[in-house]
Amino acid sequence: MRNLTPAHIRLVKLTLFLVFLLPLIRVIFRGVEGNLGANPLEFITRATGDWTIYCLCLTLCISPLRRFTGWHWIQRLRRLFGLYVFFYAVLHFVCFLWFDHFFDVEAMLQDILKRPFIALGFCAFVLLLPLAATSTDQMMRRLGRWWGKLHQLVYAVALLAVLHFWWMRSGKNNLLEPVIIAGVMLMLLGMRLVFYWRARRAAVVAQ
Ligand code: HEM
Repeated sequence: MRNLTPAHIRLVKLTLFLVFLLPLIRVIFRGVEGNLGANPLEFITRATGDWTIYCLCLTLCISPLRRFTGWHWIQRLRRLFGLYVFFYAVLHFVCFLWFDHFFDVEAMLQDILKRPFIALGFCAFVLLLPLAATSTDQMMRRLGRWWGKLHQLVYAVALLAVLHFWWMRSGKNNLLEPVIIAGVMLMLLGMRLVFYWRARRAAVVAQ
């Protein structure tokens, strides 16, 4: 598992690509069967929101997993996971724009200003845009070391996403899932801080 050949990595990527499509396929099948619950539009908006945040958690798992296991190839899955975060976020946003406002952008913006939990989700979505736009190899080369700095925005996206989820569910007194997601995110972000401090200390000692 430590070293995979390029052919194996391609196979892993293809498998994950198909696996991440399953939540969408499930929603489509349930829709065709008329099995989306009492409020189908709410079901779809929530399912796409859920999968955005799950994919975000999985994306943030990659670097710690690479460090703990020594599987460096796993780093090559980051773009796939990240683009799935964006894919489900776009679907989630379009659901909101369509189902809640029937593509009336002005009404949508007013709603965003009125309801803070939606404003938080919207900010997270806006921060995802430059990340998706610079996800190509070409942009990576062009931006050089700034690419890494820009992509640290993902941590802000994670915090905003957790707050968005938490705030939305607190209105419904149903905080179990937001608590679990917040715990996982804090652990993943905390690990990064520890790695960062260790690297800095090692650099100081080496001087
Ligand atoms: C990174 C971006 C985002 C993430 C990770 C995210 C995640 C979520 C999650 C997990 C939920 C709760 C689903 C549940 O209760 O099971 C949710 C609900 C919701 N989100 Fe987002 N969201 C994001 C962006 C947005 C944006 C851009 C908007 C609209 C401008 C938005 C509007 C909503 C609304 C209206 C709900 C409540 C749905 C309902 O109760 O019917 N979200 N989101």
